[in-house]
Amino acid sequence: MGPLAQPHPPAGNPTDRPTTARLELTGISVAFGGVTALSDVSLTVEPGQVHGLIGPNGAGKTTLFNVACGLVRPTAGTITWQDKALRRLRPDRLAGLGIARTLQGVGLFAGLTVLENVMIGAHRHARAGFLSAVLALPRSDRDEKALRERATESLAALGADGYASRYPGSLPYPVQKRVALARALVAQPELLLLDEPASGLSEEEMHELGDLIRTLSGRMSVLLVEHHMDLVMSVCDRITVLDSGKVIASGTSTEIQADPAVTAAYLGDEVDVEHDAAELGHVPAGATGGAQHG
Ligand SMILES: Nc1ncnc2c1ncn2[C@@H]1O[C@H](COP(=O)(O)OP(=O)(O)OP(=O)(O)O)[C@@H](O)[C@H]1O
Ligand SMILES: [Mg+2]
Repeated sequence: MGPLAQPHPPAGNPTDRPTTARLELTGISVAFGGVTALSDVSLTVEPGQVHGLIGPNGAGKTTLFNVACGLVRPTAGTITWQDKALRRLRPDRLAGLGIARTLQGVGLFAGLTVLENVMIGAHRHARAGFLSAVLALPRSDRDEKALRERATESLAALGADGYASRYPGSLPYPVQKRVALARALVAQPELLLLDEPASGLSEEEMHELGDLIRTLSGRMSVLLVEHHMDLVMSVCDRITVLDSGKVIASGTSTEIQADPAVTAAYLGDEVDVEHDAAELGHVPAGATGGAQHG
């Protein structure tokens, strides 16, 4: 598999203008039955910035991410997107709002080819509705051709166009992750939500992903949930740290690295010291970054 193609701009904001899209999550609380997953959490992704969301396992990162993409409805709090308060975000309306996401894990459709998977991500710009996109029944040949072209371009931007006719299950995990990212980017989102995009990637692939995220910033705002501290610290403009469903720190990477509360949150759990050390970037010899969570 080739490296991520860097100079070729990935499918993004079509005019290359800086995005003005701001996502504000204010006072968000989420309870699952008796479990409080989030308690009064606020976070703002500023336009064109990469905002990191970190914290130990079970801190509530994916839950907040799912609130931001409409998969979890908060029990309290407000979501403001492009200066409009949304009563409720719906996952099937995200693309129309200019929001794209990749989920923890991969989430590609096993029965569709790589190209078809990415074409589904482009339905915001196709006249075909979501269902017909899913069923690969575009309204006209012209729509289909345009969709194919855009999907191919997006795959090429991630160095994955060579896999267009393959099925996701037959591909190595890092390639699947690129395809999932190509699917998110083909919609030319104003906001990109990434949940653990680096899991399962090699060190080199992680660097390439970091470079890619930096090239996307400006044109789109990015919310990045990630365990790999090196990546988070190198690409994020701002970072929010969650622990036990609460924000324990927020600031630049320099501020976060110097914050004793953050170190304590990561190193406090003696039961799983090796895992926590890996999260902080001190990967013990022989350890891999490929652990899957959730
Ligand atoms: N659907 C659910 N039902 C019940 N409890 C849940 C559900 N989803 C998450 N939780 C609980 O909410 C808390 C936060 O979980 P979440 O998955 O958001 O953490 P995380 O920070 O993403 O963890 P990880 O680093 O392992 O991905 C945990 O206590 C988890 O067990
Ligand atoms: Mg998670």
